[in-house]
Amino acid sequence: MPRIFAPLRRWGARPGSLAMLVAGLAIGALTFGSLGSFMVYANSEQFCANSCHEMTSTVALEYKNSIHDINRSGMRATCNDCHVPHEHIPNYLAKMGLFSDLWGHFVTHSIDTPAKFEAKRYELAKRVWVDMKANDSRECRFCHTAAKMDAAKQTTTAKKRHDKMRKENLTCIDCHFAISHKEPDGPGPKELGQVATGKQ
Ligand code: HEC
Ligand code: HEC
Ligand code: HEC
Repeated sequence: MPRIFAPLRRWGARPGSLAMLVAGLAIGALTFGSLGSFMVYANSEQFCANSCHEMTSTVALEYKNSIHDINRSGMRATCNDCHVPHEHIPNYLAKMGLFSDLWGHFVTHSIDTPAKFEAKRYELAKRVWVDMKANDSRECRFCHTAAKMDAAKQTTTAKKRHDKMRKENLTCIDCHFAISHKEPDGPGPKELGQVATGKQ
């Protein structure tokens, strides 16, 4: 046996080591099982909209009855559809953003009252816009396929503006901002400069 295994052999010979291994595996399984469940729960509209009163009385209220909440087909986009990437790894990374929100609520108290939240809204909105411009409105495109928009069925304005999008390399969020929440004061996404990768 190579020497490198010696510590392992010593450890393996200790009484109770098998029990420790089994316990370790059980704890691991439990942790991962519940982490997965937490991720599912943390993705839910229930969690996002109701976990703290800042959300319930502001952004969630504004979203209510918007086109993504109620429409003729009953097909909805809820909080996580727009705010959390659909792929696994980016999803987990985005949850870190969620943890920073919770941090802001419970630890630094930077957004723990509706008034403080309102004061930070432009900054929070801008963060969303900058991300969406950088990823070419990836979350919007998860549901909306620009190439499959039937121009014949769109309004004249929509048709014209979507042509403009292609010509000027714009992205959805450049024009369709504040569609779920009220518009904060300050420069909009288009004024933030051109960072969209523009691959429509
Ligand atoms: C989970 C899927 C989904 C996501 C994500 C999504 N949408 Fe939608 N969107 C829909 C559905 C469904 C409708 C309603 C279609 C209908 O009228 O039947 C809609 C409608 C719209 C409309 C039409 C509004 C109107 O008044 O007719 C716009 C504009 C729009 N979405 C833009 C966006 C933008 C911008 C994003 C990203 C920030 C986005 N959507 C993300 C599914 C989605
Ligand atoms: C240059 C600005 C601009 C960009 C970029 C843009 N749109 Fe639009 N879009 C508009 C305007 C303006 C309308 C028409 C609104 C109206 O008629 O009231 C519209 C209408 C729509 C509608 C409703 C169509 C209809 O006729 O009812 C949907 C859905 C939509 N856009 C989705 C998107 C998505 C998804 C993207 C990104 C792939 C996007 N738009 C990019 C300006 C834009
Ligand atoms: C159709 C996409 C969409 C849906 C659905 C959506 N949001 Fe947003 N959200 C955005 C965009 C885009 C912004 C950036 C500001 C803006 O344009 O309104 C934003 C901004 C925010 C902000 C930053 C503060 C602010 O006012 O800009 C918070 C917090 C937020 N959303 C929470 C939520 C919650 C909670 C829900 C569910 C109840 C939700 N969002 C549903 C697209 C969406």
